[in-house]
Amino acid sequence: MSLEYGVVVLAAGMGTRLKLDVPKPLAPFMGKKLIDYALSPVWGYFDNSKSASVTLVTGHKRELLESYIQKNYQDKKVSFAFQEKQLGTADALKTYFDKTENSKNTEYTIVLCADTPLLSVDVLSKLMDVIKAKNLDGVAATFKEENPFGYGRIVRKEKGFNIVEQKDGSEEILKINEVNSGVYILKTKFVLENIYDIGSNNKASEFYLTDLFKENYAVEAVCFEDKSCFLGVNDLFQLSVAEELFRKAIAKKLMLENGVILKNPSLINIETTEIGKGTIIEANVSIDATSKIGENAKIEQGVVIKNSQILDGAHIKAYSYLDGAIVHGKASIGPFAHLRPGADIGEDSKIGNFVEIKKSKLEKGVKVSHLSYVGDAFIGDEVNIGCGFITCNYDGANKHVTKIGKGSFIGSDSQTIAPVEIGEDCFVASGTTVTHSMANGAFAISRTKQVTKDGMAHRFIKKK
Ligand code: UD1
Ligand code: MG
Repeated sequence: MSLEYGVVVLAAGMGTRLKLDVPKPLAPFMGKKLIDYALSPVWGYFDNSKSASVTLVTGHKRELLESYIQKNYQDKKVSFAFQEKQLGTADALKTYFDKTENSKNTEYTIVLCADTPLLSVDVLSKLMDVIKAKNLDGVAATFKEENPFGYGRIVRKEKGFNIVEQKDGSEEILKINEVNSGVYILKTKFVLENIYDIGSNNKASEFYLTDLFKENYAVEAVCFEDKSCFLGVNDLFQLSVAEELFRKAIAKKLMLENGVILKNPSLINIETTEIGKGTIIEANVSIDATSKIGENAKIEQGVVIKNSQILDGAHIKAYSYLDGAIVHGKASIGPFAHLRPGADIGEDSKIGNFVEIKKSKLEKGVKVSHLSYVGDAFIGDEVNIGCGFITCNYDGANKHVTKIGKGSFIGSDSQTIAPVEIGEDCFVASGTTVTHSMANGAFAISRTKQVTKDGMAHRFIKKK
């Protein structure tokens, strides 16, 4: 079956300037990897109504990149073309055509780079509109750059244009500040007719993909005003600049489109756009790309949220750390609380300061207000847990479960030695170590009796 579009992402380069052990496409970016963001406009543009195949040209440390893609994009059609030697961008494109099934039967070939994480769906749409409307053989996305050093310069002609690389440009050409972004849409037939003729007679002795564009050809340079979406990441400084731009764009979207109140947008690190209206987020909050927050929630200063869901009206107080947690509506967490993977906090529940919850389901209206550890537990509706409670869930080899039935009261400074089950409406007196399960309505106390000797304190009080 022939497809209308083939997308090829050039990702074989060494990425030496990044100074990381991983190949450049796997550099950490906004909570994911660079390649995730480079691919995201592709999934955005090619929704179910348009058919495309996506191929990554891989080379340097290809096993790492390929296994990452296979693991994370199981539902997408992504293939790989291995470029043994990085002989240049035209060679990378030839590798794609030579090694990818059906690539030659497509009508259009879309070329992207793995290191442009800010590229938008709009750029692809605009380029596609131009190439189709004018029936061109190729279009290149360009932009104006005050300091164009390093980029290919766009030399416009009456018809068509050339791209001259930094190394090859005359003084006059290097003054041109319209530059090549490295994003192209080409008619596949046009590429196949020309790419095998491209030589490497240039200062870098590389095969330049940019040599596809020539004077008098039916090609057009489409200049975009917003150059930020073409920012390439070659080193860790550029990576931080790209992240900063990304964060700003997310903050703007959250405020203008979602109706989220950001108290100090320049001091937050939010990677998700899934936050509902009326939610207030204070300064120095960090929320990763995989987290979701509902409407009218409040996230106070210094909170870190990873891979978690916060539902409508929940309140996460200052300096709490949430990882892999679900917080249901109107629950309140913190300040200084730690929710670890599997913490599922019910509606209207209250988790107070210095409380750690791990792999535990707390139903509605549960209170764990101070200094407690709850792990591998199931806590029923309206259970009230006093200060300093511990589920002793680990015996040195295995973890065990604690269950507390609804309506029970657990006094301060008590522990459950799991596995153990406390029934509904039980009362555990302060200081108790619960070692045996309790039936509904039971009372438990385990304390040594208090001994009081009048007037004897002076024997123990030491004077300095
Ligand atoms: C390229 C363009 C330049 C443009 C710039 C925009 C060419 C000749 N020049 O230059 O006009 O202004 O991008 O950023 O294309 N790659 C391979 N195999 C190779 C070589 C490169 O897969 O053999 C990949 C790289 O991993 C990278 C992309 O292609 O993702 C671009 O290659 P790079 O060497 O960075 O080209 P630039 O010098 O930046
Ligand atoms: Mg580059």
